[in-house]
Amino acid sequence: MIRIDEEKRLFDLCTRHTAYQMKADGYGVLLHTYYGPLSGLDGDMSRLIGRADRGFSPNPPDAGEDRTYSLDTLPQEYPGWGTGDLRLPCIQVELADGSAVADLRFTGFERQAGKYALDGLPAFHGEGWETLVIRMEDPVSHLRAALYYAVQEEYDLITRAVRVDNAGASPVRLRQAASACLDLQRADMDLITFDGCHMMERAPSRGALRPGVQAVGSVRGTSSHQHNPFVILCEPGADEDGGLCYGAMLVYSGNFEAAVERSQFETARLVLGINPRGSCFSLAPGEGFTAPEAALICSPDGLGPMSRRLHKAIRNCLVRDPWAGRRRPILLNSWEAAYFDFDAEKLLSIAGEAAALGVELFVLDDGWFGHRDSDDSSLGDWYAYEKKLPGGLKALAGKINDLGMDFGIWIEPEMVSQDSGLYRAHPDWVLAPAGRDPVRGRGQLVLDFTRQDVRDCVFDQLAAALEGVKLAYIKWDMNRSLTGAWSAALSADRQGEVYHRYVLGVYELLERVRAAWPEALIEGCSGGGGRFDAGMLYYTPQIWCSDNNDAIDRLRIQYGTSFAYPVSAMGAHVAPSPSHGNGRVTPIMTRGVVALSGTFGYELDPRTLTDGEKQAVRELNGIYKARWELLHNGDYYRLTDPFRNGPYTAWEQVSPDRDTALVSVVFTACRANHPFYALRLKGLDPAARYRVDGVETYTGGALMAAGLPLPMPWGDYGALLYCLERVNG
Ligand code: DGJ
Repeated sequence: MIRIDEEKRLFDLCTRHTAYQMKADGYGVLLHTYYGPLSGLDGDMSRLIGRADRGFSPNPPDAGEDRTYSLDTLPQEYPGWGTGDLRLPCIQVELADGSAVADLRFTGFERQAGKYALDGLPAFHGEGWETLVIRMEDPVSHLRAALYYAVQEEYDLITRAVRVDNAGASPVRLRQAASACLDLQRADMDLITFDGCHMMERAPSRGALRPGVQAVGSVRGTSSHQHNPFVILCEPGADEDGGLCYGAMLVYSGNFEAAVERSQFETARLVLGINPRGSCFSLAPGEGFTAPEAALICSPDGLGPMSRRLHKAIRNCLVRDPWAGRRRPILLNSWEAAYFDFDAEKLLSIAGEAAALGVELFVLDDGWFGHRDSDDSSLGDWYAYEKKLPGGLKALAGKINDLGMDFGIWIEPEMVSQDSGLYRAHPDWVLAPAGRDPVRGRGQLVLDFTRQDVRDCVFDQLAAALEGVKLAYIKWDMNRSLTGAWSAALSADRQGEVYHRYVLGVYELLERVRAAWPEALIEGCSGGGGRFDAGMLYYTPQIWCSDNNDAIDRLRIQYGTSFAYPVSAMGAHVAPSPSHGNGRVTPIMTRGVVALSGTFGYELDPRTLTDGEKQAVRELNGIYKARWELLHNGDYYRLTDPFRNGPYTAWEQVSPDRDTALVSVVFTACRANHPFYALRLKGLDPAARYRVDGVETYTGGALMAAGLPLPMPWGDYGALLYCLERVNG
């Protein structure tokens, strides 16, 4: 609910458990006055903002002789630059005279029905939203900013976006326009970021805020494997079940920065948005720029509830139909089954075996186009490799369909190989400054997706290659970082826009692909989880979590991912053992239990499985079909932290009515004479009795307080999957 006191210029954004308040003060500065538990909001919270004459904190001219008024010490919604606030800014400009002041003051507000939308950019959407727009203007440059706030009460979500317009008479260079700022009147907070590398993504990293600025971000053109555009600020004692936490997520898939400054007066300022490094926008008079959406969530009761509310918000208000809430097919992906070494006969033999085991969708990964036998060639030549696939995709897909399976395809539309017809015809279609040889990554170059003609060419080729194919699935991959972000199609003063225009180009083509194949499930991917962000989830309801398919490493990767993103978004497959990622040997049931808490599928050659393993595959498929709703849409509880090297990792999904739960346990340490463990569950109805795996019954209270006794583990990496059902009456 949005409450406005016009006289006091006070704005309350209230959700089920939280409240956010801001106030335009007498000078038109938009103060951030409160964000916390709903019960903490009472009237004008600016009373909590102390004022003193602080040395070296400058005073704006309109404050006259009042030396206690300084923007350097006041919590604000969208702090500028050159105003006397010497902390992190949200907006930086270069004006025609070379000056750099951005001093935005309140000029008005309006309510809008429902949720605002952002042209060409992903955003939360759906029912139950209210929007408030606050209008600001710099009285000298006439730069305007519209601050968008939308409130989703049910999930405690507040989204923000910013539109900056040049209403002046001179051009403006916009060096930064952040999406959100969170100014907290305390600094005794921990910052949690989600970091890693290719094949080991999103490991939580937690530490107390230090004086000065701490930041994570990306200048790779994608959100990146290295840092995720989701961060948490929380009280030092906050854990899964308690403590005040703030989550901040950028709904964007390109360069970003999340920076937090702990100030000299023990306040904390978080600024989240497009990374100012490598970015600059030219705004001629009348032109504007829209900063992508950021989503904020406050949880007064710990990290677990925060994640669960975010999962629901993403499932229900970000992922778009037709895949919201639907069971994803059990797929088999050809990558770790065959890599580049296949022809139609081999693929059909793999698919035939998979179909017999109950797999529903066959996905042909890399290697089907141009003359691609390795990753050295053919990206950009999106026609079927006739030597491998006589009759093209249509012929292969038809035969796969005849096996009773759906057909899906891998593409990497943003890329081009130097050994390709496309590159030979259009060497200027890649991102690289004129006169310089382009930098390679995985031996490939990045197409200039800022250009409509480039995107059209890729789309037309894909449409022709897929003519006559009943397409059920697309894996959209992206296998290198951007470098030399320079476009031959843009003027010199617009080159700072390339990174962002590239992302807009990707979004535009994704939208077009969605429209062309409306029934196809699209899975995002960038060398696994290099572009795992809320922006992509608007277009692709699931994202390949990691190129690392080892079930034990996946425990950490999926654990870290779960802080922001739901199980239904995490691409996860049962892959070969020993793992192609790290050589580890794991039982097939363990790989299955881990993949079940993801989108679920296989990435192996089923012809190589033993009879026992084939039986396990049938069993896993049965579990997935019977339990997918609980696995994907249930409330997710992290029961252990796999980074603490305990003897096992465990997690749990509970149905919203608390009638059913699935508990997954994977043993990660093998030793003789194990102690006995009791695993304390969460989220159950304490008064109800639950039947565990159809046998014993215990009360929810006992299962949560005393725990579920686990059997003594034996051998490497065993897994358990318990199903709990409420006993009627
Ligand atoms: C990277 C992806 O993450 C893999 O799953 C696979 O599709 C390869 N690319 C293919 O080149």
